[in-house]
Amino acid sequence: MSAKVLVAYATKMGATAEIAEAIGAELRAHGHQVDVCEVRQVQSIDSYDAVVLGSAVYLRRWRREAVGFLRKYAEALRQRQVWLFHSGPVGPKRDDLQPMPPNVNRLAHRIGATPAMTFAGRLVPEHSKGLIARRMARTELSGDARDWKLIAAWAEDLSAAISSLEANSRHRPGAQEAPQ
Ligand SMILES: Cc1cc2nc3c(=O)[nH]c(=O)nc-3n(C[C@H](O)[C@H](O)[C@H](O)COP(=O)(O)O)c2cc1C
Repeated sequence: MSAKVLVAYATKMGATAEIAEAIGAELRAHGHQVDVCEVRQVQSIDSYDAVVLGSAVYLRRWRREAVGFLRKYAEALRQRQVWLFHSGPVGPKRDDLQPMPPNVNRLAHRIGATPAMTFAGRLVPEHSKGLIARRMARTELSGDARDWKLIAAWAEDLSAAISSLEANSRHRPGAQEAPQ
């Protein structure tokens, strides 16, 4: 069963955008209609059945524009299927789960979303923005830790969940059946 899905992301150095694109590609491969979009470019979520939101993590916080998106669309998100992910851990702690920042946790609770999935990130000199990032990218933290198999597997699970929820909502008593 196909659904219309928005994959919105917030990034500073591009790594989270590529994760969002990979999630979008996997969902498309499973037959869903998907838009992958930088979070500030989103004008409305009215036409989407499900929303995936991902943010890069800096100093244990989500990007401001991703938090703004959750706030702005909280009511509309409450009526949709929503999945969250965040991306950050690099270096020796690449496999550590990143805790939900308290403000994101509160908003996730408000919209009924489960805690964010953690994906490892990327920190390399050629993509680093700012002096601190460039310095960090020359330490043991340097490298691309993104696990594309894990990302694809997560997106595949989402696809199955979206399909089954869509099918259930179509077969709810009183739900409108599509015309034959
Ligand atoms: C200054 C700075 C602070 C960071 N803080 C965190 C952090 O608190 N937690 C984390 O998991 N990763 C942290 N990271 C790693 C980034 O989240 C990682 O590089 C991520 O993949 C960047 O995503 P982006 O390219 O989409 O901006 C930090 C990186 C920098 C440069």
